[in-house]
Amino acid sequence: MSEDGKKAWELPSAASRPVSDAPPIDTTKAHSARMYDYYLGGKDNYPADRETAEVAEQSWTSVRTAVRENRTFLARAVRHLVREAGVTQFLDIGTGLPSAGNVHEVAQRENPACRVVYTDNDPIVLAHARSLLRGTSEGRTAYIHADLRDPGAILASPEVAETLDLDRPVVLMLVAILHFIVDEERPAEIVRTLLDALPSGSYLVASHVTPELDPDGVGGLERAYRNGGVPAQARPRDQFAKLAFEGLELVEPGVVLVSEWRPDGAGPRPPAAEVSWYGGVARKP
Ligand SMILES: C[S@@+](CC[C@H](N)C(=O)[O-])C[C@H]1O[C@@H](n2cnc3c(N)ncnc32)[C@H](O)[C@@H]1O
Repeated sequence: MSEDGKKAWELPSAASRPVSDAPPIDTTKAHSARMYDYYLGGKDNYPADRETAEVAEQSWTSVRTAVRENRTFLARAVRHLVREAGVTQFLDIGTGLPSAGNVHEVAQRENPACRVVYTDNDPIVLAHARSLLRGTSEGRTAYIHADLRDPGAILASPEVAETLDLDRPVVLMLVAILHFIVDEERPAEIVRTLLDALPSGSYLVASHVTPELDPDGVGGLERAYRNGGVPAQARPRDQFAKLAFEGLELVEPGVVLVSEWRPDGAGPRPPAAEVSWYGGVARKP
């Protein structure tokens, strides 16, 4: 509780469903958010997550490098869109556990008025959502516990209505989440439903693990996730590009390895197979 008796998640720059609504956290099964946290060196993971993550890592030994490259891609894309495109609103689906450089931190450093709605379907992310809600007083952040496979519920949520102005451009962030939506769940339709609700001048930032550069390593990772109860589907570059960006105007350099998307400086970057993760940014015409 803060001094005026408000709960931390009701502080002025925040809006969220009360955390008391939180569904139970199942620590007996692996969860992708906690496995990602483990690869990033975080502490919010349990034996079931570590066990599945370690089996995956035995197959794709560079997974930690890849995850770090994805995370820095996310920050560069957000910075670019605030600085160069002047966008100040973000809908970040598949937020993950709070980590260094959350979207609102990167965006509000560039423009303190930035607004971010975070969405994830993992109860542990909801349990930690409070730290995603501490932003600038000029900006605003909110958190929705929701599933990407139900885009209508996300768009209809009071948090979106109260935080974002859907008559002005919004950045839709689908970073490292589409590979958890298998073909039978029609990921392209989900992306279209979300983009259809956003005005012209909005952007999509997306990234996706690919099997084509290290089929054995990434194939083993995919199997480890599935065997651990986490549906996953790595997709080749062209499939990812079509699924995410069809009909949009790609920002240079297009769909490339996350490590090659407007890198900071000219320092050495990891070999392509170690990254095996494509990303891109595109504008809705
Ligand atoms: C690999 S993490 C990515 C975190 C962050 N976007 C990043 O790139 O650093 C994927 C996140 O997506 C969430 N996720 C997976 N499937 C989801 C779904 N169907 N709906 C909402 N969130 C989902 C997981 O809980 C996890 O937090």
